[in-house]
Amino acid sequence: MDDLLARMTLEEKIGQMNQLDPAWNSEEKEALIREGKVGSIFNIIGAKEVNRLQRMAVEETRLGIPLIAARDVIHGFRTIYPIPLGQGATWDPQLVEQAAALTADEAVSAGIRWAFSPMVDVARDPRWGRVAEGYGEDTYLTATMGAATVRGYQSHNMAACVKHFAGYSASESGRDYNTTWIPETQLRDVYLPPFKAALDAGALSIMCSFNDLNGLPPSANKHLNIDILRREWQSDALLVSDWGSGSDLVPHGLCADKKEATLRCIRARMEMDMQGCIYNDYLAELVAEGKVSEEQIDECVRSILRLKYRLGLFDNPYVPETEPIAYTDSALQLATRLVEQGAVLLKNDGVLPLNEKMANILVTGPMADQQKEQLGTWIFDGQPEHSVTPLMALRKMVGDKSLNAKLIYEPGLQYSRDKSMADFQKTIQAAKRADVILFFAGEEAILSGEARCRADISLPGAQTELLRALKQTGRPLVLIVMAGRPLTIGEETDLADAVLYSFHGGTMAGPGLANVLTGRAVPAGRLPMTFPKMVGQIPFYYNRHRTGRPSYDPPVLIDSIPVGCPQFSIGSSSHWLESAVEPLFPFGYGLSYTTFQYGEPAISQTENGYTVTCQITNTGQVDAYEVPQLYTHQLSGDLVRPIKELKGYQKILIPAGETRTVSYTLTPDQLGYWHEEQDGFTSRVWFATDEAEWEVWVAPDARCQTPPGRIRF
Ligand code: BGC
Repeated sequence: MDDLLARMTLEEKIGQMNQLDPAWNSEEKEALIREGKVGSIFNIIGAKEVNRLQRMAVEETRLGIPLIAARDVIHGFRTIYPIPLGQGATWDPQLVEQAAALTADEAVSAGIRWAFSPMVDVARDPRWGRVAEGYGEDTYLTATMGAATVRGYQSHNMAACVKHFAGYSASESGRDYNTTWIPETQLRDVYLPPFKAALDAGALSIMCSFNDLNGLPPSANKHLNIDILRREWQSDALLVSDWGSGSDLVPHGLCADKKEATLRCIRARMEMDMQGCIYNDYLAELVAEGKVSEEQIDECVRSILRLKYRLGLFDNPYVPETEPIAYTDSALQLATRLVEQGAVLLKNDGVLPLNEKMANILVTGPMADQQKEQLGTWIFDGQPEHSVTPLMALRKMVGDKSLNAKLIYEPGLQYSRDKSMADFQKTIQAAKRADVILFFAGEEAILSGEARCRADISLPGAQTELLRALKQTGRPLVLIVMAGRPLTIGEETDLADAVLYSFHGGTMAGPGLANVLTGRAVPAGRLPMTFPKMVGQIPFYYNRHRTGRPSYDPPVLIDSIPVGCPQFSIGSSSHWLESAVEPLFPFGYGLSYTTFQYGEPAISQTENGYTVTCQITNTGQVDAYEVPQLYTHQLSGDLVRPIKELKGYQKILIPAGETRTVSYTLTPDQLGYWHEEQDGFTSRVWFATDEAEWEVWVAPDARCQTPPGRIRF
């Protein structure tokens, strides 16, 4: 590699640092490639087309350095799997890894060798549209899922790009691209570990984020990109900007012009410039002026060439122009399984699974038959015509007699934001002929994802009105929500007899959900985010700190305050007057068609820590998956610690009536955290485990309602 680098001119080096998508005319694009001024292309698919451009780079440029073709492959390529948040809800990294591997097979067959995922931004604010793209609010869950995705892609010839480095998800008020203020200790405890885990899993690249982090956007942030990424973590993964995040330093108000932005980015070692063109336009000039050294440029180019070598592009620059891989049986089966495993049963008064007596089923709601909307955000290559909707899946079951019922279909609303009540009467009449109502509610795909933030996260349109009207019929009402984020569905949950929550499920959302509704599959998802009761509680996450004035039990709520009472006569506790400190549903929560009984955790000391075991019995009638979660709480320490922290989880199948023992280890390192000390005007941070005592739970969700065990280090 050094030999190649030594032969490159400055212009050729700068060319490698340029990543371009085809949003410019093809003649110009091709001329740039032929001149060796492009290192990577993105958003171009098809083996033939990628190979055609690749030939220009390999055969027509002086040094024949291959291009690398990238794409936003986020939760599937042709076969679309559940959105990452839905994958998080499976709590099953093995399935997630398999989905990434099959995704890579499809994408590579279309010429793509570099995916801009996984996104491992820990997201605590469901207003933020990009919660859809990550694995939820927990650092550990996100880290395990992100690492699984990296392994899946990279074992199947596609480089991963872990993003967005860093802090992006903490945007103020859940508004995309907004400011983030994150203290160094919180950055390191909460936001950075999933990046480290993805890099440890071998991620070959990492992407800067759009936000300003404590005033300094990551593309210009030496502390993140050099101190932490290169020095502390010793990573040699390629660091690419986000789309124009370098040139965005001008609208951010950090730099006066693009030339200054270029200087700030290169000093912070942003190695490849995605679509901003600032490196091509200004770097040579900055080198000539002596503001940037050729060594600084070499460092970046070395990373780019390294990625290409690692992917074998120098030996095999072309992709086979055979029939593209898409929608194989194994991919469709796996996609169905992810939907089943990620569907979270939030409530069930006994109406699910559907039974023989339910001879007439009304299928209604705006998401029952939406081939495109069920795919979710970021599905550039997903083809809606391949989606199987819940209505299609249920009809097929009726057709092949695996479901002995008659279906009535009345959507009631045409799309999720539809406010027209014109079809309500028709739908109510249909409900009166039914033994059970399946109401498919939710959000259209366009309402979540990048730049799709909401200030009100309730069901849009007239969905709640329709539910209220259907409730009046007295028929059993099953609410199935298909959305890109947690929604505030308190009233709707009260109205329904059962609630099944499915984050946008992708191509096979229909069969997966139909299997769960009919009992062919037992719901096995658990919430990867806390569901707030109301938007004013946000941010509301399970691993928050305690306050010095914990909430009273019971807390004083708004309607119980005596009129005219003196200011402190009702005390001073930390809670909301409308909702106490209670979420609608806690992190980790999810019901099953069976029940599980947890024993007390048994704790034994080992050489390097503790082993925690717990017996769990399936006390119901069906075999089912359970997700026992290991939580700890440090009772006192150098700094205030979260009320609960997830330290482990497993997904296990427990046959009906049987007991299984789960076992976890806890080492001092797992219980350590970042400390900070202020010394005059400087501060120092370090990772350490306090000498302290911890409560330990093995529990079905973050409420941890069983008595804890205790350990001490
Ligand atoms: C997003 C990235 C994405 C990139 C390329 C940006 O707007 O923030 O996540 O990979 O576009 O499409």
